[in-house]
Amino acid sequence: MAAREFPFQQLIVIGGTGQTGHRVLELAVEFSNARLVATSRKATVDSGCALPDGPLAATVMQDAKKWGAKVKWCALDLEADTPALLRALELLAANLMTGKRTALVFASAFTNVEACEADARFCERVNERNTAAVLKWARDRFGATLVFFSSDYVFDGVAGPYVENAPRAPLSVYGRSKAFIEEWLENNAPASLIIRTTGVYDYLPGSKNFLMQMLAAWGQGKPTPVPNDQLANPVWAHDLARATLELLGRSCRGVYNVAGATRLVRADFAGMIAKVFGLDSALVQPIETKALGQKALRPLDGGLVCDKLKSELGWAPAGAAEVLESLKWLYTR
Ligand SMILES: NC(=O)c1ccc[n+]([C@@H]2O[C@H](COP(=O)([O-])OP(=O)(O)OC[C@H]3O[C@@H](n4cnc5c(N)ncnc54)[C@H](OP(=O)(O)O)[C@@H]3O)[C@@H](O)[C@H]2O)c1
Repeated sequence: MAAREFPFQQLIVIGGTGQTGHRVLELAVEFSNARLVATSRKATVDSGCALPDGPLAATVMQDAKKWGAKVKWCALDLEADTPALLRALELLAANLMTGKRTALVFASAFTNVEACEADARFCERVNERNTAAVLKWARDRFGATLVFFSSDYVFDGVAGPYVENAPRAPLSVYGRSKAFIEEWLENNAPASLIIRTTGVYDYLPGSKNFLMQMLAAWGQGKPTPVPNDQLANPVWAHDLARATLELLGRSCRGVYNVAGATRLVRADFAGMIAKVFGLDSALVQPIETKALGQKALRPLDGGLVCDKLKSELGWAPAGAAEVLESLKWLYTR
């Protein structure tokens, strides 16, 4: 997207260190007119330049250095208590201008589904209370257009893939926290963009996404049990970020599904990764979800229909085989 097409003068990316937030920033640095402010749980100062800190992939940090002053980094920890969160938001506000057309892309979350189930109060603090507080702050203080990433975990997985207006029926604490913010936005900021996605992956060393988890385990020769009954259509973070900025740029509002072109069970996705990356497919151990003994229920027949996205943008994210083929050159054992 050319800089002149982007209708915002300021873009705030909450969670610029995650795979999606990072890719959004990578594309957004092309906008010469937009001020870019990103948050990381921690931010440090290196050679006078604020940079993200924390459990970052080396590639993310390298890019952050390359972008230099184009991206201003601020610390924002969603685990904070209310006074600490408000102090962090004050510091964030000091790096922004009022009266500018502002968008906020909220790409942070406590994404560990099992840990959310084990500690529902913690999940509620990070993914509901503090997330809503940041969204409200951006709405009230900057009149920001809000973008939030939700999930096919807002559905029960009885009859996927799901269209945008299917009724929500989350099975897990994590899924309920996503449904909570969807409802909060519908009631409090109806002109927001809610992007539902599923199985986000990318080649980003250090990231804990499914692709990187499989490559890390198999690099050590560790066979990995992978569910053979969870259907979804995983999406490349780069495609997700591109769709996000295009939808935002076209003033699209409401719910949009953004997911990959190939719907398959997780064990087949793992097998595809092994095949494309030239690894032993015997390292994939297909297993039924219920045999994994997990606390959180998963939507089994999941995934998202992307027809609305395709008719709006004229394209939709690529399928897994095509993306993996394009990424395999990055992998060195
Ligand atoms: N990954 C998926 O398959 C998937 C599917 C559906 C929806 N989504 C949603 O899409 C969004 C982006 O996901 P992703 O896969 O890009 O996530 P990711 O790579 O796991 O990154 C998560 C981001 O959240 C930040 N974060 C985590 N806990 C935090 C806290 N307590 N305070 C502040 N920041 C915190 C992380 O910061 P650090 O770098 O400091 O850890 C990181 O920037 C999330 O809302 C997620 O729920 C993801």
